[in-house]
Amino acid sequence: MKIGILGTGNVGSRLTALFTQGGHDVLMGGRSGEISLQDAAAHGDIVVVAVHYHVAAEVLRPLAVTLAGKIVVDATNPLNDEWSPMLLGQETSASEEIAKLLPQSKVVKAFNTIFADVMYPDAISRGGQNITAFAAGDDSEAVADVAALARDAGFAPVAITKLSAARYLEAMAHLNIELAVGQGGGTNAAFLYHRA
Ligand SMILES: NC(=O)c1ccc[n+]([C@@H]2O[C@H](COP(=O)([O-])OP(=O)(O)OC[C@H]3O[C@@H](n4cnc5c(N)ncnc54)[C@H](OP(=O)(O)O)[C@@H]3O)[C@@H](O)[C@H]2O)c1
Repeated sequence: MKIGILGTGNVGSRLTALFTQGGHDVLMGGRSGEISLQDAAAHGDIVVVAVHYHVAAEVLRPLAVTLAGKIVVDATNPLNDEWSPMLLGQETSASEEIAKLLPQSKVVKAFNTIFADVMYPDAISRGGQNITAFAAGDDSEAVADVAALARDAGFAPVAITKLSAARYLEAMAHLNIELAVGQGGGTNAAFLYHRA
Protein backbone atom coordinates (compact mmCIF):
# COMPACT_ATOMS: atom_id res chain seq x y z
CA MET A 1 0.00 0.00 0.00
CA LYS A 2 1.15 3.58 -0.61
CA ILE A 3 1.56 5.52 2.62
CA GLY A 4 2.28 9.24 2.99
CA ILE A 5 3.62 10.64 6.25
CA LEU A 6 3.20 14.33 7.11
CA GLY A 7 5.97 15.30 9.52
CA THR A 8 9.54 14.08 9.87
CA GLY A 9 9.83 14.08 13.67
CA ASN A 10 9.79 11.23 16.18
CA VAL A 11 6.46 9.70 15.17
CA GLY A 12 6.82 10.37 11.44
CA SER A 13 10.24 8.76 11.21
CA ARG A 14 9.39 5.78 13.45
CA LEU A 15 6.17 4.97 11.58
CA THR A 16 8.00 5.37 8.27
CA ALA A 17 10.52 2.73 9.38
CA LEU A 18 7.87 0.33 10.72
CA PHE A 19 5.57 0.62 7.68
CA THR A 20 8.51 0.19 5.30
CA GLN A 21 9.59 -2.93 7.21
CA GLY A 22 5.97 -4.08 6.95
CA GLY A 23 6.26 -4.05 3.16
CA HIS A 24 4.62 -0.73 2.32
CA ASP A 25 5.71 2.02 -0.07
CA VAL A 26 6.19 4.99 2.27
CA LEU A 27 7.00 8.62 1.50
CA MET A 28 7.63 10.96 4.43
CA GLY A 29 7.46 14.72 3.82
CA GLY A 30 8.12 17.80 5.90
CA ARG A 31 8.11 21.56 5.74
CA SER A 32 11.82 21.58 4.87
CA GLY A 33 13.93 19.03 3.03
CA GLU A 34 13.58 17.42 -0.37
CA ILE A 35 10.19 15.81 0.08
CA SER A 36 7.38 18.26 0.75
CA LEU A 37 4.19 17.76 2.71
CA GLN A 38 2.37 18.03 -0.63
CA ASP A 39 4.53 15.23 -2.11
CA ALA A 40 3.78 12.92 0.81
CA ALA A 41 0.06 13.74 0.73
CA ALA A 42 -0.10 13.05 -3.01
CA HIS A 43 1.80 9.76 -2.66
CA GLY A 44 -0.31 8.05 0.00
CA ASP A 45 -3.58 6.18 -0.28
CA ILE A 46 -3.27 6.39 3.48
CA VAL A 47 -1.73 9.62 4.81
CA VAL A 48 -0.63 9.96 8.43
CA VAL A 49 -0.72 13.32 10.23
CA ALA A 50 2.42 13.31 12.39
CA VAL A 51 2.73 17.00 13.28
CA HIS A 52 1.63 18.74 16.46
CA TYR A 53 -2.10 19.27 16.73
CA HIS A 54 -1.75 23.03 17.12
CA VAL A 55 -0.27 23.27 13.59
CA ALA A 56 -2.60 20.67 12.05
CA ALA A 57 -4.99 23.23 10.56
CA GLU A 58 -2.12 25.21 9.02
CA VAL A 59 -0.63 22.00 7.58
CA LEU A 60 -3.85 20.34 6.40
CA ARG A 61 -5.90 23.21 4.93
CA PRO A 62 -3.68 23.58 1.83
CA LEU A 63 -3.70 19.76 1.38
CA ALA A 64 -7.48 19.28 1.56
CA VAL A 65 -7.96 18.83 -2.20
CA THR A 66 -5.02 16.41 -2.46
CA LEU A 67 -6.34 14.41 0.50
CA ALA A 68 -9.92 14.16 -0.84
CA GLY A 69 -11.07 10.54 -1.02
CA LYS A 70 -8.05 9.31 0.93
CA ILE A 71 -7.71 7.80 4.37
CA VAL A 72 -6.14 10.32 6.74
CA VAL A 73 -4.72 8.85 9.94
CA ASP A 74 -4.65 11.34 12.78
CA ALA A 75 -1.80 10.42 15.14
CA THR A 76 -1.87 13.78 16.93
CA ASN A 77 -2.58 14.52 20.55
CA PRO A 78 -3.96 17.88 21.60
CA LEU A 79 -1.23 19.13 23.92
CA ASN A 80 0.04 22.44 25.19
CA ASP A 81 3.72 23.36 24.89
CA GLU A 82 4.69 21.72 28.17
CA TRP A 83 2.92 18.41 27.26
CA SER A 84 -0.11 19.17 29.41
CA PRO A 85 -3.46 18.18 27.87
CA MET A 86 -5.16 20.73 25.63
CA LEU A 87 -8.69 20.02 26.82
CA LEU A 88 -11.17 20.18 23.96
CA GLY A 89 -14.14 19.22 26.14
CA GLN A 90 -16.09 16.01 25.90
CA GLU A 91 -17.99 16.94 22.77
CA THR A 92 -15.16 16.95 20.25
CA SER A 93 -11.60 15.72 19.72
CA ALA A 94 -8.57 16.58 17.63
CA SER A 95 -9.68 13.99 15.09
CA GLU A 96 -13.19 15.37 14.78
CA GLU A 97 -11.77 18.88 14.32
CA ILE A 98 -9.40 17.53 11.64
CA ALA A 99 -12.34 15.78 9.96
CA LYS A 100 -14.07 19.17 9.73
CA LEU A 101 -11.01 20.51 7.89
CA LEU A 102 -11.01 17.51 5.52
CA PRO A 103 -14.69 16.78 4.81
CA GLN A 104 -13.87 14.67 1.76
CA SER A 105 -11.32 12.47 3.53
CA LYS A 106 -11.87 9.40 5.70
CA VAL A 107 -10.28 10.33 9.03
CA VAL A 108 -9.12 7.57 11.37
CA LYS A 109 -7.54 8.15 14.77
CA ALA A 110 -4.61 5.81 15.34
CA PHE A 111 -1.14 5.48 16.90
CA ASN A 112 -1.67 8.43 19.28
CA THR A 113 -1.67 6.16 22.35
CA ILE A 114 1.75 4.69 21.46
CA PHE A 115 4.94 6.50 22.48
CA ALA A 116 7.44 7.00 19.65
CA ASP A 117 10.01 5.48 22.03
CA VAL A 118 8.29 2.08 21.72
CA MET A 119 7.70 2.28 17.94
CA TYR A 120 10.61 -0.11 17.38
CA PRO A 121 10.27 -3.76 16.31
CA ASP A 122 12.02 -5.05 19.43
CA ALA A 123 9.89 -2.88 21.75
CA ILE A 124 6.47 -3.83 20.38
CA SER A 125 6.23 -7.25 22.01
CA ARG A 126 5.63 -6.85 25.74
CA GLY A 127 5.72 -10.10 27.65
CA GLY A 128 4.19 -12.10 24.82
CA GLN A 129 1.54 -9.59 23.78
CA ASN A 130 2.03 -6.89 21.19
CA ILE A 131 1.27 -3.23 21.89
CA THR A 132 -2.30 -2.32 21.07
CA ALA A 133 -2.95 0.07 18.20
CA PHE A 134 -6.47 1.44 18.42
CA ALA A 135 -8.00 2.64 15.14
CA ALA A 136 -11.19 4.71 15.35
CA GLY A 137 -13.15 6.15 12.45
CA ASP A 138 -16.63 6.35 10.97
CA ASP A 139 -15.77 4.51 7.73
CA SER A 140 -15.47 0.80 8.55
CA GLU A 141 -13.37 -0.02 5.46
CA ALA A 142 -10.95 2.80 6.27
CA VAL A 143 -10.69 1.58 9.86
CA ALA A 144 -10.02 -1.97 8.61
CA ASP A 145 -7.29 -0.68 6.26
CA VAL A 146 -5.60 1.22 9.10
CA ALA A 147 -5.92 -1.81 11.39
CA ALA A 148 -4.22 -3.94 8.70
CA LEU A 149 -1.44 -1.36 8.38
CA ALA A 150 -0.96 -1.39 12.15
CA ARG A 151 -0.79 -5.20 12.12
CA ASP A 152 1.81 -5.13 9.34
CA ALA A 153 3.86 -2.78 11.53
CA GLY A 154 3.77 -5.33 14.36
CA PHE A 155 1.02 -3.88 16.55
CA ALA A 156 -2.14 -5.64 17.75
CA PRO A 157 -4.96 -3.60 16.21
CA VAL A 158 -8.32 -2.90 17.81
CA ALA A 159 -10.85 -1.46 15.35
CA ILE A 160 -13.50 1.00 16.52
CA THR A 161 -16.14 2.13 14.02
CA LYS A 162 -16.74 5.55 15.52
CA LEU A 163 -14.57 8.60 15.01
CA SER A 164 -15.89 10.22 18.18
CA ALA A 165 -14.11 7.45 20.14
CA ALA A 166 -11.03 9.58 19.40
CA ARG A 167 -12.14 11.54 22.49
CA TYR A 168 -11.35 8.48 24.61
CA LEU A 169 -8.12 7.68 22.76
CA GLU A 170 -6.88 11.23 23.27
CA ALA A 171 -7.73 10.99 26.97
CA MET A 172 -5.79 7.70 27.10
CA ALA A 173 -2.80 9.45 25.58
CA HIS A 174 -3.07 12.19 28.19
CA LEU A 175 -3.01 9.48 30.86
CA ASN A 176 -0.03 7.82 29.13
CA ILE A 177 1.87 11.13 29.25
CA GLU A 178 0.86 11.80 32.85
CA LEU A 179 2.17 8.37 33.90
CA ALA A 180 5.38 8.74 31.87
CA VAL A 181 6.24 12.38 32.49
CA GLY A 182 4.10 13.68 35.37
CA GLN A 183 4.58 10.57 37.51
CA GLY A 184 8.09 9.83 36.24
CA GLY A 185 7.36 6.37 34.85
CA GLY A 186 9.15 6.99 31.56
CA THR A 187 8.11 6.37 27.97
CA ASN A 188 9.09 2.70 27.73
CA ALA A 189 5.45 1.88 28.43
CA ALA A 190 2.37 1.02 26.41
CA PHE A 191 -1.28 -0.04 26.52
CA LEU A 192 -2.17 -3.71 26.00
CA TYR A 193 -5.87 -4.38 25.46
CA HIS A 194 -6.83 -7.95 26.32
CA ARG A 195 -10.16 -9.38 25.25
CA ALA A 196 -10.88 -12.95 26.27
N1 LIG B 1 6.32 11.56 20.54
C1 LIG B 1 5.43 10.63 20.87
O1 LIG B 1 5.74 9.72 21.66
C2 LIG B 1 4.05 10.68 20.29
C3 LIG B 1 3.27 9.52 20.36
C4 LIG B 1 2.01 9.51 19.78
C5 LIG B 1 1.54 10.65 19.15
N2 LIG B 1 2.30 11.77 19.12
C6 LIG B 1 1.78 12.95 18.39
O2 LIG B 1 2.36 12.88 17.09
C7 LIG B 1 2.59 14.22 16.61
C8 LIG B 1 4.07 14.35 16.26
O3 LIG B 1 4.82 14.19 17.46
P1 LIG B 1 6.40 14.04 17.40
O4 LIG B 1 6.83 13.57 18.73
O5 LIG B 1 6.79 13.28 16.18
O6 LIG B 1 6.83 15.56 17.23
P2 LIG B 1 8.22 16.13 16.69
O7 LIG B 1 9.29 15.12 16.80
O8 LIG B 1 8.39 17.45 17.34
O9 LIG B 1 7.93 16.34 15.13
C9 LIG B 1 6.97 17.27 14.70
C10 LIG B 1 7.04 17.41 13.19
O10 LIG B 1 6.10 18.44 12.82
C11 LIG B 1 6.76 19.37 11.99
N3 LIG B 1 6.17 20.71 12.13
C12 LIG B 1 6.15 21.49 13.22
N4 LIG B 1 5.52 22.66 12.94
C13 LIG B 1 5.15 22.59 11.65
C14 LIG B 1 4.47 23.45 10.78
N5 LIG B 1 4.02 24.64 11.20
N6 LIG B 1 4.27 23.07 9.51
C15 LIG B 1 4.71 21.86 9.08
N7 LIG B 1 5.34 20.96 9.86
C16 LIG B 1 5.56 21.34 11.13
C17 LIG B 1 8.20 19.36 12.46
O11 LIG B 1 9.00 19.92 11.46
P3 LIG B 1 10.47 20.50 11.79
O12 LIG B 1 11.32 19.28 11.99
O13 LIG B 1 10.78 21.27 10.55
O14 LIG B 1 10.32 21.34 13.01
C18 LIG B 1 8.39 17.85 12.65
O15 LIG B 1 8.61 17.21 11.41
C19 LIG B 1 2.10 15.16 17.71
O16 LIG B 1 0.79 15.57 17.42
C20 LIG B 1 2.14 14.30 18.96
O17 LIG B 1 1.21 14.73 19.93
C21 LIG B 1 3.55 11.81 19.66
